[in-house]
This record gives sequence, C-alpha cells and structure tokens, in this order.
Amino acid sequence: MGKTASGVVAVGVAASALLFTATTAAQSGAALFTSNCAGCHNNVKHPKGLVYNAAGNAAIIEAVNAKGMAAPGSSADFVSIATYLDGAKPTINMALVAHDSPGTRLNLGDIIVSAADLHADWKIITKIVTVSPPTKGTVTYQFANGFAVPSHVTYTPFPGQSGTDTWTYQGTGLLGNTTVRTASVSILNADGTPSTAPELSQHGLTGSWYEPATSGQGVEVEIFPAVGFAQVSWFTYDATAGGADRQRWLTLGGFVTPGQPTIALTIHRNTGGNFNAPPTTTAVTVGTATLRFDSCTSGQLDYSFSDGSNRSGSIPLTRLTQNVTCDPVIARPTNADFALSGNWFDPSTSGQGVTVELNPISGVLFFAWYTYAPNGGAAGAAGQRWFTGQGSYAAGARSIAYTLYETTGGVFDAPSTPPPANAVVGSGTLAFQDCDHASLDFTFTGGSSAGRAGTIPLVRVGPAPPGCTP
Ligand code: HEC
Repeated sequence: MGKTASGVVAVGVAASALLFTATTAAQSGAALFTSNCAGCHNNVKHPKGLVYNAAGNAAIIEAVNAKGMAAPGSSADFVSIATYLDGAKPTINMALVAHDSPGTRLNLGDIIVSAADLHADWKIITKIVTVSPPTKGTVTYQFANGFAVPSHVTYTPFPGQSGTDTWTYQGTGLLGNTTVRTASVSILNADGTPSTAPELSQHGLTGSWYEPATSGQGVEVEIFPAVGFAQVSWFTYDATAGGADRQRWLTLGGFVTPGQPTIALTIHRNTGGNFNAPPTTTAVTVGTATLRFDSCTSGQLDYSFSDGSNRSGSIPLTRLTQNVTCDPVIARPTNADFALSGNWFDPSTSGQGVTVELNPISGVLFFAWYTYAPNGGAAGAAGQRWFTGQGSYAAGARSIAYTLYETTGGVFDAPSTPPPANAVVGSGTLAFQDCDHASLDFTFTGGSSAGRAGTIPLVRVGPAPPGCTP
C-alpha cells in the first residue's frame, strides 16, 4: 500500500515538473522571438513567415547569422526560438479538395523561399521537395513567389479518390534543410459531402464484422499494413438450413494498396481436413470479392462465385464490437491488447486456424475457429466446422477464459426462420505468450466435437501490427 501511494506521488511530481518546464520554455521562446526577431521579420522590413524555415531547427538561424543576419541571442536562445516556431508554424491540416478536381492551390505558410534580390546570398532554403509522397494524388510546389508571399502547393487528386491523404515535405538548400513537415487534405465525395472513408491499409480495420439482418454469420478481417495484405475469413452456411454439416467457411485474401478505395480479394475453399489433426489442406479458388469500408464502423463485401453455383451478392458490414484503433483521419493509434487481434494457426494443421479479436473497449475476447469435423477428411464441404469463442476480460489480461459456441441453422447470406441457434459446446482458455505465440486450451462438452480436449500451440500469421508489446 505504502509503496503504491508513494509511486503515485512520484508520478504526480514528475508530471507537473514536465508541464512546468514545457510552459517556461514556450514562453521564453515566444518572448525571445518578439525581442530578437520580430522587429525585422514584420512583413515591412522582411518577410514574417520566413522565420518558420527555422521551426524546430536552430541550425538554420545559425546559418543565416553566419551570412550576416546578426540576430541577437545565444545558441540556447535560438534553440528556444526554434522550438517556439515549431509549435506556432502554420500547417495544412485537412484542407478541403474537390472530387476529381484539376488541382487545389494551398498556401504553404510554413516554408518560404526568399525571392528578395537584397541579401540573395543569405538564402539558406532554396527549394521545397516532397519527402514521402501523397497516395491519392500528386503535389507540385511554387516557391520564390515574391516578398512575403507564401509558397504554394497544388494538390491534384487522382480520379475517383475521396478521403484523407497526407504527405511530407521539406525545404532544402546547400547549407541546411528544414525539419520535415506534414500536410493533410480531405478529398470530398463526388456529391460534395466530406468523405469519412478511412485509409484501408491500417490494422485498425481488423476485427469482427457482420450484417445484423443475417446475424449468426459474419466475417473476420485482418489488414496487414506492413505487407499490404488483407486476410478475411467468412463464417456462413450452405444454401439450405440444417445441422453442423451445413456450416461453411471460406478464406479470402488480397493485396491492399495504400490510397485505393477497395481491396480485391480471391475467395478460397479448403476441404479434406480433420478436427485439430492432419492432413494439412490446400486452398482452392472458388470466386472473387471486393471489400470496402466507408467508415471505421461500416463496410461492404461484394462477392461472386466461380464454382458453378453462380452465387453473387453484396453484404453490408457493421462491427460486432467497438472500434479500437481504426482512424478515418491520419492518426494511427495503437493498443497493445487489440494488436493481438488477427489470424493465428498451428503450422502442423495448416488449413485450419483461429481469427482472434481482443477488444479492450468492448471488454471481450471473440474468436472464430475454422476447422473440420473429427472425421471430416472424406466429407468434402460437409466436413467443414466452425466455432466461436467468447469471454469477457479485463484490459491487459493475457490469459483469458472463454465459452465455446457452435452455431447452426443458418442459410448462406440470407436470414432464416428460425434464426441460427447458438449452442454452448465447451470452454477453455486462450493465453498469449508474446506477439507471435499463443495457446488455445479447449474442452468440448457437446456439439459436433463432443469429448475432444487439448491444447493447440498457435503462431501468428504474418507480422504483428504496430503497437504490439507482449
Ligand atoms: C536585423 C534584421 C533581422 C533580425 C533581427 C533577424 N533577421 Fe532573420 N533575416 C533577415 C534578413 C534580411 C533575411 C533575409 C531575408 C530576405 O531574403 O528577404 C533573414 C532571413 C531569415 C531566415 C531565412 C533563411 C532562409 O533562407 O531560409 C530565417 C529562418 C530567419 N531570418 C530567422 C530569424 C530569426 C529566428 C531571428 C531571431 C532570432 C531573426 N531571423 C532575426 C533579417 C533579420
């Protein structure tokens, strides 16, 4: 108790000390700027915005001083001024850009390339260049526009784009470079409304999605931003209702290109496996699909089968649980619990696995387990089985008890009467050892795998997302 209390006190002191330091530094930076710089940089004598070239980088002030600017102040003062300028510099933040527009000109007030003949040799920054390009359009810069006239950037969206786009840029010259700056634009929808479509290449779209009208079936999505890939598992049923042998699952995969509004997927079917036992099975292509998200909580899966069934359709998707790290704008928050969400499997039984969602905001573990009947090997599609595991948990827990369910009675992408029934068929524990290793402990007391118990050593499919800390 005593230890905890003093720990809390120590943190409180450290936090207020930090706050105090930051405030004084900012105040003195602003005051020093007024007394040492603003008299010359006032848009009458010399351009005011030119000073932002030094934002976050005192070396630029030192460099112009070496040319003869003769700004008063110590090196420490210049660091304070550069820090103040960094917090005060005007940036382009979610500037609106019309859909399919020929180009929108935006003031780039945070870097000015001097066009003055007077002191032409004092120019430290002579160009503006892109560091990391935008993904939904192109940018061109116009600089050295005249006394105190800001630089411009023209943002031209690619056809059909909407939503947020960001890029970074920098002023460069022979004697120094500015810090790297970030700009963002919001490209409007074709009808002129602001777009809320999130960038698809983010792990935050990972999770459990379904259509409320066909509750009892759904998809598990995982986006791998590091490798530009989307993996989807689809838990559904045969065309007519029945028992566990009418359960069907499919896996879908495809590349995610940053800036693109949709993800093209190939639909696969695996058959010929046995519950938690060899052989490994191979995916057969049975169709194509397109996945899109128009917000962090809504999306759509369009599918078309090429397996002779001619099934095609469109499923509106909403989240089963709450959004944790998806962001429609540019922030990419991370969460150590949610980062464990995704695809896991045992390589010795490749062709079956679990897709996990660990959601600290909803306070739930949810997973879908795609596998086969104990002797499903010869049964074709009727040998497929899937289960869901659900448990409540406290944020930060790494060993979580769950209840196992087997859902039956549904119809492929359609509502059914009666609706699918969720039967409790067992329980177990899912424990995470680190970002890439977990174990699934299970005991079936009923359903199509009744009597089975065991522990499956799981490894993560693909790289762990940003923010995963075991
Ligand atoms: C005596 C007047 C004077 C004072 C004081 C002064 N400057 Fe300047 N500064 C200039 C002139 C002149 C230029 C060149 C402007 C031009 O080309 O129009 C310049 C250029 C600059 C540049 C642009 C360099 C480049 O090419 O990228 C920066 C940055 C800058 N000043 C920052 C500061 C800061 C910060 C202070 C205060 C610490 C300061 N200046 C104080 C006169 C002054």
